[in-house]
Amino acid sequence: MYARLPALLCAAALLAATPPTAPEWHSAPPARAPHAMIATEQHYATQAGLRILERGGNAVDAAVAVAYALAVVDPCCGNIGGGGFMLVRMHDGRERFIDFREKAPLRANPHMYLDAKGNVIPGASTKGYLAVGVPGTVMGMERARAEFGTLPRAVLMAPAIALADRGFTVEPGDAAIFAASQSEGDSGAYTFAKQPNIRSIFMRNGTLPQSGSVLAQPQLGATLALIAKDGAQAFYRGPIAREVVAASQRNGGILTLDDFSKYTVDERAPLHCTYRGYTIASAPPPSSGGTTLCETLGVTSGFPLGQWGWHSVKSVHYVVEAERRTYADRNTYLADPAFVRNPVAQLLSPEYEAKLRGEISAGKATPSVDVKPGLGPLAHENADTTHFSIVDRWGNAVAVTFTINDLFGAGVIAGNTGFFLNDEMDDFTSKPGVPNMFGLVQGVRNDIEPGKRPLSSMTPTILTKNGQLFMVTGSPGGSRIITIALSTIQNVVDYGMNVQQAVNAPRIHMQWLPDEVQYEPGALSASTMETLRGMGYTFREIHSWGSAQAVLVDPQSGVRYGGTDRRHPSGLAAGY
Ligand code: GLY
Repeated sequence: MYARLPALLCAAALLAATPPTAPEWHSAPPARAPHAMIATEQHYATQAGLRILERGGNAVDAAVAVAYALAVVDPCCGNIGGGGFMLVRMHDGRERFIDFREKAPLRANPHMYLDAKGNVIPGASTKGYLAVGVPGTVMGMERARAEFGTLPRAVLMAPAIALADRGFTVEPGDAAIFAASQSEGDSGAYTFAKQPNIRSIFMRNGTLPQSGSVLAQPQLGATLALIAKDGAQAFYRGPIAREVVAASQRNGGILTLDDFSKYTVDERAPLHCTYRGYTIASAPPPSSGGTTLCETLGVTSGFPLGQWGWHSVKSVHYVVEAERRTYADRNTYLADPAFVRNPVAQLLSPEYEAKLRGEISAGKATPSVDVKPGLGPLAHENADTTHFSIVDRWGNAVAVTFTINDLFGAGVIAGNTGFFLNDEMDDFTSKPGVPNMFGLVQGVRNDIEPGKRPLSSMTPTILTKNGQLFMVTGSPGGSRIITIALSTIQNVVDYGMNVQQAVNAPRIHMQWLPDEVQYEPGALSASTMETLRGMGYTFREIHSWGSAQAVLVDPQSGVRYGGTDRRHPSGLAAGY
């Protein structure tokens, strides 16, 4: 459909995709460029990547430059104090999934967030040094650069260092993120004022960065310069590791120098599935992203969503019921493959997907309490994020999602390092049956063990058709990351939206527990909600819906289209 009519929509698709009162999100055009395209949630980072592409770097070079730039200009989420995943597809078809997810410290244990009565201690896994997993971003970028990059590290890091040293102008979208962190309680900027090293950077004039002000981060600039000079060595075996460990030990954390020197990045085969003629490459465990995305696509592939229409009663019912079941599986079965055997092949088998499809009642919601993880018990075994998408002039594609988890992570910066540390430990199961910060009710397979990576929802994804690159996508959004990727793909493939409409369209989400459909204002008409209520659904309005960043390559012309999420006004999709 899109393949035949690149930037426009054919009449049938337009009918399916156009909501009753075509709102603003529907009319924004995608960015368009003949050679290359980058979509990120911060315009300085997009421009840093573009400069690298324009001087001859490839998509991986640009990804490294963007990642370090985001660590400066998107400090809530872009990072060197966290971890993530990079999915690479080179123009010759080679694919790599680089796993630089954080690991639990070697002194971690399954009960570390429980009090003497066995109850979860509020905030222990989200705030302060005990919440911090061993960061992976610097080693991940070094691995990507060494394997696929063509330009020296210092060149790729120069834009980030300049942005940190000279500062950048804060725009309303950036200021809004700082302001939002105020309501995050103790896990966000609320604590800035109490910590002199954070206050001196982010509240220099007594307030959080305001629109129009210039935010310089010389401490972070010095840290990045060290990494530019000495590489991962500086971070994992040098002064940066020493400063983080010392601060952790002074403040009730358990990080040791061993955690840093023993940290490793893993390379894995991307996870694959097909959907309506497209081949999808996405994130394998320790992310649940690819598995749950593919399982949900597999179940919904049996339904004519395009014919039923975007967010019609029938489409919502069948997609939500699929999500209810696939998230039950996600929360129960998936975890770090170094510690458990993930039943991915079973979950993605056509027979299993058909079984789940068959369990959905026409015209009636299934209460989550009646939905059990579909594979039954398995045999005993021994065992706020950011995304960017890049396509270069050769057709190499990179999808990166990386995170410090909560907005501004654990809310701590070690000494003069200048970067926020993650609170990724909250992605583990602190106690089976007790929801984490995203409301995910997870099982024992994702419990805390030394050196284990917490289960993630990050879903960097690349679509191809007949061997040709088609789309690169992903988003932040906690547990909603997977359904954001799902809707972005279905908005293009099933409903014929262009890539900007696809990332802009209001969203819905269901994750098994809590038993509610979460929706964004504008996602469902009043009459659709009323009919769905009559079928047994309850709804909750949610205002935080990630930030999808996607690039689409028109199969006929090769033109690159970029979509940057309207929810992050500082974002930019741009190319040349
Ligand atoms: N920290 C969010 C995730 O990895 O799913």
